[in-house]
Amino acid sequence: MTILDRAKTLLERLDRLAACTETPGQIDRPYLSASHKSAVALVESWMRQAGLDTRIDALGTLVGKRRGTGDDRRPLLLGSHIDSVRNAGRYDGPLGVAVAIDCVANLRDAPFDIEVLAFGDEEGGRFPGTLRGSRAVAGTFDTALLDSVDAGGISVRTALRDLGANPDTWRDEIRNGARAYLEIHIEQGPVLERADAPLGIVTSIAAATRLQVSLRGEAGHAGTVPMDGRRDALVGAAEAIHVVRDTAQEHAGAVATVGTLTVEPGAPNVIPGLVRFTIDLRAPTVEQRDALEADLSQRLRDVAIANNLALTLVRIHASDGCVCAPSLQDRLDRAVRSLGIEAPRLPSGAGHDAMAIAALTDVAMLFVRCKGGISHNPAESVTAEDVALAIGATDAFLRDFAAS
Ligand code: HGY
Ligand code: MN
Ligand code: MN
Repeated sequence: MTILDRAKTLLERLDRLAACTETPGQIDRPYLSASHKSAVALVESWMRQAGLDTRIDALGTLVGKRRGTGDDRRPLLLGSHIDSVRNAGRYDGPLGVAVAIDCVANLRDAPFDIEVLAFGDEEGGRFPGTLRGSRAVAGTFDTALLDSVDAGGISVRTALRDLGANPDTWRDEIRNGARAYLEIHIEQGPVLERADAPLGIVTSIAAATRLQVSLRGEAGHAGTVPMDGRRDALVGAAEAIHVVRDTAQEHAGAVATVGTLTVEPGAPNVIPGLVRFTIDLRAPTVEQRDALEADLSQRLRDVAIANNLALTLVRIHASDGCVCAPSLQDRLDRAVRSLGIEAPRLPSGAGHDAMAIAALTDVAMLFVRCKGGISHNPAESVTAEDVALAIGATDAFLRDFAAS
């Protein structure tokens, strides 16, 4: 089978995986949902076809393991995530899991164990917080994250037990001694397409923070309360959202996004008394991220005062990002060059499980060009030719690693 045939087969698999969704007609696969369970069953069948021993770990990560021919049990880890954002594309996460499974299936003997990890909580869309699976593997998991509850009041702990996982054993998942971690992922940005490069080697992953913001004013009758003296939470939120955009634009390399907003009580003839929204902010380094967060927090306090509103700001997630190991970047570079092509090195603005695993071992990421850089959108797309090159580079990386 040529690597182009392997790529086409892999893309057909991802088309089937796209049907594992909470919402027919779009891809919506939250952590520990019924669709996540059906995705686990499908991906597990791929792992078994590849000759891997499979299990569900304490945090719901699907693990496919191949024992090495030697006596040293320290594993090489590969993986990505199979959960999704709402109305997602079909490659953000699953591409990396599918390539890892295919390449391990096509690798002749390796002296060390290899594990493919299909994480389930990278997007963090259902419960506050994220990266539970990869943080458990890295040993940095905070058990308080088991008590997070979703909009329906179901806790992570309860949902894990429904999946047949036992979160109380999470410390058994820590992979001390892991040799390295490799994640293949779509770029989710326009850099590779602009450089006419099918593959890219990631140098670092941006630092990120997610804030839950609430602005509380006073609900009132839309017809009787005069305009002056109103404490309209939505007017204040509108001003705050412009401040989020304007502040990020003043910080080099930073981005900030308000992606969710709720209005209470949410009736046409009632002045909004409470607005809640999230802010996703990122910057190339932890220091830059923290400077942006401090600046923005102060400006939001000023907006609340100016609108006579009560502000709450809660950090619901923070990741320090990570640097990808230069030695692994070079190993990836050799692997790509063995295909007769070159891959630019670039930072990742998107977060990945690799940044959690970086607390455990050296990590590397291989980016695959995606059309228009579009992601977190059903228009997300890749070509079979680029996926074939990603397969070829991963094959070469694994052979090189096995021979080292
Ligand atoms: O938000 C991110 O960067 C990733 O898609 N979870
Ligand atoms: Mn994503
Ligand atoms: Mn992703």
